[in-house]
Amino acid sequence: MATISVFGAQWGDEGKGKIIDRLAADVDLIVRYQGGANAGHTVVVGEEKYVLHLIPSGILHRGRLNVIGGGVALDPVLLEEEIQGLAERGIEVTPANLQISATSHVIFEHHRRLDHLSEHWRGEGRIGTTGRGIGPCYADKAARTGLRMADLLEPSRCQTRLRAVLAEKNAILEGVHGVEGLDLDEQLERYTALGERLACFVTDAGAAVRRAHREGQSILFEGAQGVMLDLDHGTYPFVTSSSTGVGGIGGGAGFPPQKIDRAVGIAKAYCTRVGEGPFPGEEHGEAGDAIRRAGNEFGATTGRPRRCGWLDVPALRYALELNGADGWVMTNLDVLTGFGDLSYVAAYEVDGERHEEYPAHLADLAGLRTVTREAPGWEEDITAVRRFEDLPPAARAYVEEIEAAVGVPIAMLSVGPERDQVIPRGDLLSP
Ligand code: GDP
Ligand code: IMO
Ligand code: MG
Repeated sequence: MATISVFGAQWGDEGKGKIIDRLAADVDLIVRYQGGANAGHTVVVGEEKYVLHLIPSGILHRGRLNVIGGGVALDPVLLEEEIQGLAERGIEVTPANLQISATSHVIFEHHRRLDHLSEHWRGEGRIGTTGRGIGPCYADKAARTGLRMADLLEPSRCQTRLRAVLAEKNAILEGVHGVEGLDLDEQLERYTALGERLACFVTDAGAAVRRAHREGQSILFEGAQGVMLDLDHGTYPFVTSSSTGVGGIGGGAGFPPQKIDRAVGIAKAYCTRVGEGPFPGEEHGEAGDAIRRAGNEFGATTGRPRRCGWLDVPALRYALELNGADGWVMTNLDVLTGFGDLSYVAAYEVDGERHEEYPAHLADLAGLRTVTREAPGWEEDITAVRRFEDLPPAARAYVEEIEAAVGVPIAMLSVGPERDQVIPRGDLLSP
């Protein structure tokens, strides 16, 4: 497999972890390029379930290099916990299978605190963040007051920069929010010690990725979150603070985007969203509850119940087009078993006018009505099906109808959380 971008094409939690773990069998490098521990990527291998937050989803395969690129907002406390958690389960994380970019920005305790405090001040307009300090860390990066992993490795430099930063953050914590500030010495000790312990993983990761490409190795870029949560193209301001799609790779991995051979979006056979913000196809009643129950739709990072709705075709088409997707993977098809009639969002209506395309220009999608279409469902268990032709006719018809409506080929179907529960289609994702 050549160089491939795999990204979430809805509001996150599309099953990226499962699909990336599956594809990782055939690639040499797996690279995270944005987001941070707000992500929760689930990989199920036999009886074991792993939820990865920062470490790429290739870590369960031996002999792969996993890279945390410079565009990731990295919480060293959580990274260390994740490494230890994997070690306790027999997965050794070493510099041979994990490298961290020296330019990735560090999430500090003050970022996490400010994330919670800002949410409080947003009141009704709160985003429902994961509380992992993502927004405040990226804000500091843009404001050029952030510290990067390389800074943690040099105690005197770290001290100078953290002193200046904490003076301002403490003024905000105390003066604006009326809470206690943080102790410089304590923070310094904690984070430089973390820097020391993680130093062995820190490299010029962008150079490593480009070298691998030069040497003909195959690379998979692992997106976190989803296009509808993208800072620029999602439902702003109810988004995350990074570029979640192909556009994030250049800056976030230090890799020229024109060298990416294929882009593949991941989308569920229905939609979910965690946190606040517009969700045109949301089902508030029994249908939404039934999807949540059948799909066990609770957040992998925060445990929050996910908001659920039918598949939104125009939003998915928008997400795939924006990223030049060559194909997409439909996950969780098995969850729709036994629903009777299915439904999907085929178009929208605003002020009585029909929109076939996702209206990204509308401030908050206010006044938007969905136009839905029905499709016959199926009753058969499909979790053991491995060939498209073995699916019940109604399931095949649903997949084909959605594929035609979206206009981008489906490269794989997923019919269960486990590695082998996939139905390949076409050769876009073959090794
Ligand atoms: P990610 O953030 O995109 O990696 O997705 P999450 O891990 O947050 O959420 C996806 C959930 O669906 C996880 O619990 C997966 O184990 C599960 N999952 C993935 N693919 C499938 C599938 O095809 N069918 C079912 N039933 N569950 C799936
Ligand atoms: P994965 O990679 C689903 C959502 C939060 C909130 C908004 C902003 O597992 O798909 P943030 O903490 O990033 O500032 O929160 O984005 N969000 C996610 N929703 N899956 C994720 O990651 C998410 N990461 C952030 O719920 O609405
Ligand atoms: Mg997730």
